[in-house]
Amino acid sequence: MSILIKNGTIVSDGQQKNADVYCNESVIKAIGQDLEVPDNTHIIDAQGQYVMPGGIDPHTHMQLPFMGTVATEDFYTGTAAGLAGGTTMIIDFVIPNPQQNLMEAYHTWKDWAEKSCSNYSFHVAITWWDETVKADMKTLVEEEGVNSFKHFMAYKNAIMADDEIMYNSFSRSLELGAMPTCHAENGEMVFQLQKQLIDQGITGPEGHPLSRPPAAEAEAANRAIKIADVIGVPVYLVHVSTEDALDEITRARSNGQRVYGECLAGHLLVDESVYLDTNFERAAAHVMSPPFRAPEHQKALWKGLQSGNLQTTATDHCCFCAEQKAAGKDDFSKIPNGTAGVEDRMAVLWTHGVSTGKFTPEEFVDITSSNAAKIFNIHPRKGSIQVGSDADIVIWDPELTKTISAKTHHQNIDFNIFEGMEVKGLPSYTICNGVLKYANGELMAEIGSGQYIKRPAFRSIFNALQKQADLNEAKSVKR
Ligand code: URP
Ligand code: ZN
Ligand code: ZN
Repeated sequence: MSILIKNGTIVSDGQQKNADVYCNESVIKAIGQDLEVPDNTHIIDAQGQYVMPGGIDPHTHMQLPFMGTVATEDFYTGTAAGLAGGTTMIIDFVIPNPQQNLMEAYHTWKDWAEKSCSNYSFHVAITWWDETVKADMKTLVEEEGVNSFKHFMAYKNAIMADDEIMYNSFSRSLELGAMPTCHAENGEMVFQLQKQLIDQGITGPEGHPLSRPPAAEAEAANRAIKIADVIGVPVYLVHVSTEDALDEITRARSNGQRVYGECLAGHLLVDESVYLDTNFERAAAHVMSPPFRAPEHQKALWKGLQSGNLQTTATDHCCFCAEQKAAGKDDFSKIPNGTAGVEDRMAVLWTHGVSTGKFTPEEFVDITSSNAAKIFNIHPRKGSIQVGSDADIVIWDPELTKTISAKTHHQNIDFNIFEGMEVKGLPSYTICNGVLKYANGELMAEIGSGQYIKRPAFRSIFNALQKQADLNEAKSVKR
């Protein structure tokens, strides 16, 4: 399929430019005016619209087996919903059970993901440690194109990584040129608070945020950052939800440490009052970790994105329906944790970010696509509109409107945390691998048409860190 996008405004790499874009054989072949293209080229008129890199959601959990159940959204339905919202790539998580062989888990997830209709890649969680884990990390980096490893500092007695696991895994990541990432919440604190609250008779969803206070996140963020600092490896904190954790990131960055922070569309726009809803189903539908927070944290997160101390936006898309959430009817700690958003992330960020003047369209592209591509080392193949980049493109109509609702969304879940929100600014077309996947409300998402994206090990950052470490050592020897 060849596509020519005419008359649009390209937004990419910090610039806007009026030019046409020609895609063929899944890559961008030419950008300019009056391009000569073959007769059978499909022409899209993007007059009055932005032509932007397709969204990259760096944090999703399709069909995740978790808390005794399995997330309802699979790789096909989830990536299709993403395409309808302008997202052309997800980075999902392989999460081995403790003691499970990493390669076995990786191949299980890889098989599940074959039905994806957008592009996909994997972070791999390190949930235990021994010499086979160390060896498998090398295989994953060098043969499978995995360049990031995840550490859940929460979920005690399940997938929690303690300091010993983190120290070993961060050190190994440095050797391999891979990025450690963390879910930063102190799992022991959460576990103890959950027990205390249940003993006090607080069993409903209102107990969920009480068991996961901002301090539990800040402590873990600080610990992850300090472990990374001692080892000399960069670190990426997923779903930063509090001003307190953001402060830890900001301080480390101002000291020259390479620390990156992601925040979720949900944490920016939904506050903790949802847990006080007396309707169990509605309150439980919002149970995710870290929980939605008080409005002052939301304000801080917006500023974190504006200041560049947070670089990426994601959704943590992890769908559980009402009957699954009912497992925690008498004990909030048993409500499967997770909420959706892969379809809505870009529209809600445009509406509340660009339309309010918080972000320029160029900054919107950075926080929804390019920064994730850079941090996870696939830029400019992804996250950019350049000749030679993959043809993953969203044509964005700033005038299109809709009201978000679970009744009309494509996501395979019975609830939408943005229910009733009016958005202005939506994709009119989504192109993935040079193929039109979504056009004016119609999804053409063929099962299995997505590609697995290998992400190479980081050389430049890690070489710079090595140089810095060598210099420091030389200086200390001289003294
Ligand atoms: O509540 C959440 N976030 N569920 C998915 C697992 C995780 O912590 O990311
Ligand atoms: Zn998490
Ligand atoms: Zn997650």
